Amino acid sequence: MTPSPGTGANPLRDAADRRLPRIAGPSGLVIFGVTGDLSRKKLMPAVYDLANRGLLPPGFSLVGFARREWANEDFAQEVHDAVKEHARTPFREEVWQQLIQGMRFVQGTFDDDDAFERLRETIGELDKAQGTGGNFAFYLSVPPSAFPVVIQQLKKHGLADQSSGSWRRAVIEKPFGHDLKSAEELNATVEEVFAPDQVFRIDHYLGKETVQNILALRFANQMFEPIWTRSFVDHVQITMAEDIGIGGRAGYYDGIGAARDVIQNHLLQLLALTAMEEPASFDADALAAEKTKVLGAVKLPKDLGRDTVFAQYAAGWQGGEKVIGYLEEDGIDAKSKTDTYAAVKLEVDNRRWAGVPFYLRTGKRLGRRVTEIAVVFQRAPHSPFDHTSTEELGQNALVIRVQPDEGVTVRFGSKVPGTSMEVRDVSMDFAYGESFTESSPEAYERLILDVLLGDANLFPRTEEVELSWKILDPIEEYWEKHGKPAQYPSGTWGPAEADEMLERNGRSWRRP
Ligand code: BG6
Repeated sequence: MTPSPGTGANPLRDAADRRLPRIAGPSGLVIFGVTGDLSRKKLMPAVYDLANRGLLPPGFSLVGFARREWANEDFAQEVHDAVKEHARTPFREEVWQQLIQGMRFVQGTFDDDDAFERLRETIGELDKAQGTGGNFAFYLSVPPSAFPVVIQQLKKHGLADQSSGSWRRAVIEKPFGHDLKSAEELNATVEEVFAPDQVFRIDHYLGKETVQNILALRFANQMFEPIWTRSFVDHVQITMAEDIGIGGRAGYYDGIGAARDVIQNHLLQLLALTAMEEPASFDADALAAEKTKVLGAVKLPKDLGRDTVFAQYAAGWQGGEKVIGYLEEDGIDAKSKTDTYAAVKLEVDNRRWAGVPFYLRTGKRLGRRVTEIAVVFQRAPHSPFDHTSTEELGQNALVIRVQPDEGVTVRFGSKVPGTSMEVRDVSMDFAYGESFTESSPEAYERLILDVLLGDANLFPRTEEVELSWKILDPIEEYWEKHGKPAQYPSGTWGPAEADEMLERNGRSWRRP
């Protein structure tokens, strides 16, 4: 970055020279719940991809902990298969051979003291054999009900202890509680054993390149920020649509639902990054301070019946195939009221955003998989064109395409070539695939590396998690008390009630 005139080089910032690769020091990762889907599809492949990119130390160690009767070799084979199937980068035998040196498996249940003793011994053995220096992160990829016991066992067996000068960290997967009260209890349990700077709560959306780019787009440029206010913005739409159903996740999903599953975390984090003020720096404290401020300013609609919608997918068509409705899915109670679609209207009660609605929606079995943030601008205050010239002119919008077609789009009006003055919407596009040659790392690659580096920027803090539950709890309670979920046929863009919710405000949802 070229310093602006008059500013000298900043020695503090230069210490974190971005041109140097960020390589983790001696360390290892222990995964609890290593036989689960997340571990196989995301965590193991991410570890391999990091090794392949040369970002892990030579003696890096990976320890799996689970009930399964596996020997080290069986575990290694599992990792091997997961990597072959899901890794982002090509398989290289020499990388694999080095990685496998540090792989161990510890068999046991979470309440088994002997198993945790074996884990302690295994870590000691790896310190000697692999030079891990006692630095270990414990990844809890386990159901929330198992968090307390695992945390307590780590304490009881001295595994959280950093007194020898090495570091110990806990990585916690969502869901972080199912309401404010349970989240507070969980935070208390975790913080009884680990200091706040030892705890890394995963919200994998923050590991996505396009999500980090929100900060670059807003704060490294001059052209967007001046109009990023209520004076120019009409409203903001944050959409996370999925085409998949709940698959084999009935046990987790039923009773949780779409709002708890992704609005409480991913979508409110996207809202925070979109609406927050510029942080004093990009260190974890400064970022958390701004996100916390903006989440604290979120205001719920007065009438939750009018300005929120919850719904369930019914049978329908997806990708040319007939699919069943939520209530017919395996393992789902036929009377379930769980939401697979949720839409809410929020406001951010501060000077920058007063009166600007933030519409958040998410759903399973929608038209297609897409996540985007659309900042929709007000119409020009005056139009010198006659009405028929601008019939096909919409509102200007800046759309951050989080996935799958990563990039940024600006929508604006342009004259249609010809002899008459007709103005129609066009797009100006930035696509990652065209501007950069390297493909983006997976979110979990970035997040695991940051845990090993002790870099907490991309991990929500206790206050953020609790504030997010404070926003969601009254909505969930309202839904619980009032009525039944609306229905929408699979493969569509959600229930009519959600369209009506915006129509009442004179607006409509984008069809991404
Ligand atoms: C998870 C949710 O956090 O995010 C899932 O629990 C959802 O229900 C998933 O499918 C989507 O993640 P991504 O990265 O594919 O958008």
